[in-house]
Amino acid sequence: MRVGILTGGGDCPGLNPAIRGAVTRGIEFGFEMVGLEEGWRGLLEMKTMPLSLETVDSIVAQGGTILGSSRTNPFKKKKDGSDDSELAFENFHKLGLDALIAIGGDDTLGVASKLYEKGFKTVGVPKTMDNDLSCTDYTFGFDTAVTVAVDAMDRLRDTAKSHRRIMVVEAMGRNAGWVALWSGLAADSDWTLIPEVPLHLKEMTDQLKDSYARKRFGIVVASEGVNFLNVPESDRVQLSEKSQAIFAEVEDEAKKGGKLDNFGHPVLAEQKVGPRVAQIIENETGVETRHVVLGHIVRGGSPTVFDRILGTRVGVKAAEMVKDGEFGMMAALQGMDVVAAPLADAVGTNKTVPPEWFETAKIFFK
Ligand code: F6P
Repeated sequence: MRVGILTGGGDCPGLNPAIRGAVTRGIEFGFEMVGLEEGWRGLLEMKTMPLSLETVDSIVAQGGTILGSSRTNPFKKKKDGSDDSELAFENFHKLGLDALIAIGGDDTLGVASKLYEKGFKTVGVPKTMDNDLSCTDYTFGFDTAVTVAVDAMDRLRDTAKSHRRIMVVEAMGRNAGWVALWSGLAADSDWTLIPEVPLHLKEMTDQLKDSYARKRFGIVVASEGVNFLNVPESDRVQLSEKSQAIFAEVEDEAKKGGKLDNFGHPVLAEQKVGPRVAQIIENETGVETRHVVLGHIVRGGSPTVFDRILGTRVGVKAAEMVKDGEFGMMAALQGMDVVAAPLADAVGTNKTVPPEWFETAKIFFK
């Protein structure tokens, strides 16, 4: 059996452990394992590499992905209305693939699910630092991202204390606030802003004034996906004119429409959440405030033990699912077990932060 394997979408630590898991278990079953390079681009351009025990030796400790990644989308409509899906189907056959393991988040797995609906034997492995994939309790990449963010915040607290400043940390996570919320809880933030909860900015800045009066520094973490249009009117009118001008800017940008990626997601870095939150805090509190955009830093480096083990387990399970003919399914962590869950269910709706999590975080905004 010839089994392809690819990693698509934003990279994250844990991809190499997952590749190692699938390849090692696949070789045990007598499969020929072949890597498709740079996500779905590898299928469209037929860029492949052989995968052996030597190729995956020691990669468990490496960040990134030895296969490369991209946000190539074979179903993306071009200007003339066509897409590359027929080419993907053709190349699947040309490459002599009997099955394909796709490691990715909702976009990559969405493509795997569509291919399965067209009769191709695909199996999914969930990954994303955003932790926003349904049907799985955690995705690898998330634990490492939070660990790096917490380390950054611990460092920023030192400099905030020295300079009697407030530091705002912008964390990735797309439209789910998992990374910001967990980092904030673990690093004792004075406030956390996540996309799932309306932005009570007046309440935040009042709270920051109180805590600043006591301890003379502050740390705020804001998810890149927070929407300034999600500030309740009652809150907004209490802010200074300078801060309100920021909302007008955001409204203007929203009307124009921003840059989208190949899967139609807005490029959230363009929303300038960190700088804008810092500006609002400085306007409202009068405390010197700085911001730091963590960006891609949290996606690099060696995976944590949790991500190494989770990546390994879901990779191993994917090879077992190929052997057992469980196609159109994804290797999911449910409780302590790794089980097969339907790809179509996993990619349907994102898993966002339940509001009660925010209530727990709020206990510590003191
Ligand atoms: O989905 C993972 C993620 O890191 C998001 O948190 C972020 O919005 C996006 O990818 C950034 O994408 P890119 O690497 O294409 O800039």
